[in-house]
Amino acid sequence: MKRREFLSTALAVAAAGLAPRSGHASNGLVEILLDEPIGAIAPELYGHFTEHIGEVVYNGIWVGENSKIPNLGGIRKALVDHLRQLRAPVIRWPGGCFADSYNWRDGVGPRAQRPVRTNFWDNDTQLCKAPDGPQKYDPNTFGTAEFMRFCQLCGAQPYVAANVRSLTPHDFDEWVEYCNSPAGSTTLAQTRAGDGSREPFNVTYWGIGNESWGCGGDFRPEEYAVQFRRFTSWVPEYGLKLRFIGSGPGASADDPQVSWTRGFLANLVATRADLLDRLYGLSMHYYCGTTGKGNSLEYSADEWYQMLWQADVMDSLVAQHWQAMGEYDKERKVKLVVDEWGAWHSTTPLGPPYLFSYVPSLRDALVSAITLDVFNRHAEKLAMCNDAQLVNNINTLFLAVEDRFVPTTIFHVFDMYKSHQGGRSLRMVCDAPEISCGKGKHLWGLAGSASLQGKKLVVTVVNPHASEPQAAEVSLRGGEAKSAQVTVLTAPDIHAHNDFDHPAAVAPKTEPASVSGSRFSWTFQPASVTKLEIDLA
Ligand code: AHR
Repeated sequence: MKRREFLSTALAVAAAGLAPRSGHASNGLVEILLDEPIGAIAPELYGHFTEHIGEVVYNGIWVGENSKIPNLGGIRKALVDHLRQLRAPVIRWPGGCFADSYNWRDGVGPRAQRPVRTNFWDNDTQLCKAPDGPQKYDPNTFGTAEFMRFCQLCGAQPYVAANVRSLTPHDFDEWVEYCNSPAGSTTLAQTRAGDGSREPFNVTYWGIGNESWGCGGDFRPEEYAVQFRRFTSWVPEYGLKLRFIGSGPGASADDPQVSWTRGFLANLVATRADLLDRLYGLSMHYYCGTTGKGNSLEYSADEWYQMLWQADVMDSLVAQHWQAMGEYDKERKVKLVVDEWGAWHSTTPLGPPYLFSYVPSLRDALVSAITLDVFNRHAEKLAMCNDAQLVNNINTLFLAVEDRFVPTTIFHVFDMYKSHQGGRSLRMVCDAPEISCGKGKHLWGLAGSASLQGKKLVVTVVNPHASEPQAAEVSLRGGEAKSAQVTVLTAPDIHAHNDFDHPAAVAPKTEPASVSGSRFSWTFQPASVTKLEIDLA
């Protein structure tokens, strides 16, 4: 059967009177088009974000050299071990909103002599209830050299966000000098050597501000274009190709904020078209759940679907911003960077100092899987994506309180999906009965992504149905399965989660999968993330 006939047959079956949320017979389709590559999946799409906010840096990452908590020069060892397991490609720092209040000079030189400064988030109503501590008054113990050491230990590249709101381009140039000037060459290279690194850090990813339309300066797009030009003119390069990332919009499900993308790019190219060459990537932030910010562990089935629907909005946001970028960047030199994403809930069971932290559940695992699948499917458009945030915060992979440490449901999704890193994204067509999310909205019945490295095909699929399995015919167009293994992340209860008392309540299960040939049947469990790793004949 030709592909088009096969698809239309499956679509007809799917449309044949299947009520939303009904029991699902074998009426789904997952078709992988091995001859239709989309683009390479940059490992950087699996990046992380760490801000001086709440207990992300202090306690989460930095426990101090004299701590009883196992550490590597003050950095929490369990965190490093898990990030190495994930092959974490890149880590963004120091913010977030904090970045545009941060003077990097406060975080260099002998630690004991560094100044204590009021943290950007000190005014937050929740943090006001917390006792005085590093979350409110930053001791600057964790500065540039400590962050670089953290990245080196994890095997990740650093991505540093510059302060555009309250420092100058000259300060930025000198931060680059501190990081990248050759050993022994400058006074700042000597300061760096005193901080433990004679050799340069060779930082290439530099964010030019953060949320410059808001906490990063309340700029209009045309004003930010001026700042971008100033901050990226004649920055010392030291033989590196610096990759400047422009501050993009904060998109929401109701408003993609494409006007910022257009306004910034129009003003940039209006000055000189070749200024696009300075823009390696343009960022976009998208948090699902920002309206209402409900409880992370208490939700109805409707709220489950609504959150997953919101996560899926990322797909159209990437497409819309990419289209807008193409109006100004005809040669497609600039890539999109989603440098903050995740599900934002309002609960903070760990207490006031743990600003924006919550216990992620199976729902957040599916949010993350849906999002990573979107990134894979748009691999040709995206240079980097950073989950917000790594530990003790929104969409967190880890909870870390003193000597207690637990990988969350989201960690397991990153662990499963790391097999996509560096693969070639392939077009994949899914079809299954849609699910009603209320208010006239519908969510697909199955979705995912596929990638190929050599003869190894990786297919990830989300079944969002809260209670029903979804059977499907899996079709490999242009190849045949020789052997396979499957990994499934799910739980009997959609509210399941890992916490300190139940560290493995939700954990993936891997086993051999008996599949062969170019077509086989597969049943995707309810509320699940499935990875099929297929060796092609
Ligand atoms: O991740 C928390 C905050 O969300 C970041 O500081 C900011 O960039 C965004 O609004």
